[in-house]
Amino acid sequence: MTNSSTARIRFGVIGAGAIGAIHMETLNKLADVAELKAVTDTYLPLAEQRAAEYDIPVTHSSPEALLADPKLDAVVIAVPNQFHAPLAIAALEAGKHVILEKPMAIDSAKAKEIVDVQERTGKTLIIAQQMRFSGLARAVKAIIDEGKLGRIYNVKSGWIRKKGIPGWGSWFTRKELAGGGPLIDIGVHMLDLALHFMSGPRPVTVFGTTYAEFGPHKRGTGNWGTPNWEGTYDVEDLATALIKLDNGATLALDVSWAAHAAEMSDEPYIHLMGSEAGISYVGNTAKFITHVDNEVVTTEIKPLDDANERELLARHFIQSIQDGTTPISSAISGYTNNRILDAIYESSETGNQVKLNWN
Ligand SMILES: NC(=O)c1ccc[n+]([C@@H]2O[C@H](COP(=O)([O-])OP(=O)(O)OC[C@H]3O[C@@H](n4cnc5c(N)ncnc54)[C@H](O)[C@@H]3O)[C@@H](O)[C@H]2O)c1
Repeated sequence: MTNSSTARIRFGVIGAGAIGAIHMETLNKLADVAELKAVTDTYLPLAEQRAAEYDIPVTHSSPEALLADPKLDAVVIAVPNQFHAPLAIAALEAGKHVILEKPMAIDSAKAKEIVDVQERTGKTLIIAQQMRFSGLARAVKAIIDEGKLGRIYNVKSGWIRKKGIPGWGSWFTRKELAGGGPLIDIGVHMLDLALHFMSGPRPVTVFGTTYAEFGPHKRGTGNWGTPNWEGTYDVEDLATALIKLDNGATLALDVSWAAHAAEMSDEPYIHLMGSEAGISYVGNTAKFITHVDNEVVTTEIKPLDDANERELLARHFIQSIQDGTTPISSAISGYTNNRILDAIYESSETGNQVKLNWN
């Protein structure tokens, strides 16, 4: 660590792909609180290319070399899901604070290993659930926190892409490297944001089913990622689940990379139904719904601001390091998300409801 608690945090980035590059761009905009000092990628020419693009002084030949660099305080980990846990654990053990891309880990056993090491080392770790930080999400959360919805008892959260399979045949569509399909990829965002809006109730039972009707036939492919047509597709392309929370509320989650669903938009949505009012959040809009004299009254919710959500996440992370506080989107919330994802996959395999034990 640097000497002063307000000194700029010196970052290295592990993984120089599409999302690693977005983190580099973000950190370069935060020159008042952050310095981007190093990068690495298993494909070294890409790391070198990014170093030139983003003016990064050092390119390390491996994550091990980057983590051994005493000039770094924190790392961003933006690699395929399979490598999240080993790299996050190695980073924490090396004394680095960590911004870890979502999903926290490929499964909940690996997520728990990260939780244990994070707690033992006391280093700051945040999961990159940047959707929590948008101006609109913060406006919605503020209304909920004022109690205007009353008791939120039913929530429908989802993201139904019609034609959005990322990188067919790449790591994205291989269970061994990704852990699953749209459920662990975009479903984790919708699960995380819904539970955040609901103020973090604990999941107690989960029933879910997954399907693969498009991917195995090379249909429904989208623009994200680079396809490898000789590769493998062994993950779902649609998942549906019902989650019961310890406060009695229900959360329905529906996600797909590809589906025949004409009247649903391709945008993320969360419908929060409360005893006094509701909020429907769809894409970049949100509406507040209440009943007045037995009439449905709907008003638009304005975003608090148009600040960049990834910049706010990084600033919140840095502030948490400096204050010694636990960030929102912490290791525990990432672990909770991974437990629900595991339970949905398990329920789909067995056909049974899965009970989650938290003792
Ligand atoms: N927060 C979001 O909204 C969001 C959006 C998309 C992807 N993601 C996440 O970001 C991560 C990266 O996704 P991407 O789209 O950038 O993938 P990508 O394939 O574009 O990039 C991954 C990079 O990691 C490198 N790599 C692989 N294993 C490595 C290792 N062990 N050490 C160092 N480098 C390694 C690869 O060479 C590649 O350059 C994934 O976890 C994904 O789930 C997050």
